[in-house]
Amino acid sequence: MDKSKVTDAGLDALIHAVQRAFENTPDPRLKEIMTLLVKHLHGFAREARLTQEEWFQGIRFLTEVGQTCSDVRQEFILLSDVLGLSMLTVELNDAKPAGCTAPTVFGPFHVEHAPRYDNGEDIGNGAIGKPCVIRGSVRSLSGRPIPDAIVEVWQADDEGLYDVQKPNLGQAQARGVLQARADGSFDFRSVVPEPYPIPADGPVGKLLHASRRSAWRPAHLHFMIKAEGHETLITHVFRRGDRFLQSDPVFGVRDCLVADWELQPDGSTLLVFDFVLNPSSEETGS
Ligand SMILES: [Fe+2]
Repeated sequence: MDKSKVTDAGLDALIHAVQRAFENTPDPRLKEIMTLLVKHLHGFAREARLTQEEWFQGIRFLTEVGQTCSDVRQEFILLSDVLGLSMLTVELNDAKPAGCTAPTVFGPFHVEHAPRYDNGEDIGNGAIGKPCVIRGSVRSLSGRPIPDAIVEVWQADDEGLYDVQKPNLGQAQARGVLQARADGSFDFRSVVPEPYPIPADGPVGKLLHASRRSAWRPAHLHFMIKAEGHETLITHVFRRGDRFLQSDPVFGVRDCLVADWELQPDGSTLLVFDFVLNPSSEETGS
């Protein structure tokens, strides 16, 4: 008797039994997701020939991921990020036509109600770093400038830290909300963002270390741009020549989002970047 065939048939029967257990799920999408999850989770364990000790180790790891979460830290998002799952959901759900600025991961450091600034103002608000001027425009796919687009920006400072990572700061730094002018242009001052390591003191950090993976994200500015009649764009702008571009631990780099940041005679750095939004028939607020 071929023992492996009997085993495979038994394992298949187990998958089908578990899938059948979800058969009466009223929500069709939940039913579909759970049926596929069971299929691929079992397939993964079978292909890896997962031992019970390894399974326990995985349970301990996920337990630690949950216990590391707090009001100001989301270790599960970090785990999703380093597994490429966050970027995969961006790719699957937020694809833009050619000519539009590409989206990338949202990241964990956005905060609601960032301070508003006028064009030309310094959003650094005391952040440590080398001076930087950012000029840009917001256009529709047709090339038409989009007046009054809401441009939200947030970034790490010279130390590679976001303001929210400094609990005693008491004020927003290097983040703000601007409104594009009638011709779609905007500009502001800030500091040059620097590379930073994703939080490495938790279970996800241990996984990166065990896998000899870099925790360092290449330097970037986060943008979220909203305009009536257009899909909201969530993206980053990276710095050409950054030594971490090829090893972003969250897989968020796209070539079209890497820009030249040019040193100016006065010692400041200038970034010029134009954003192209995808028209939408629906409002895309929130
Ligand atoms: Fe970031």
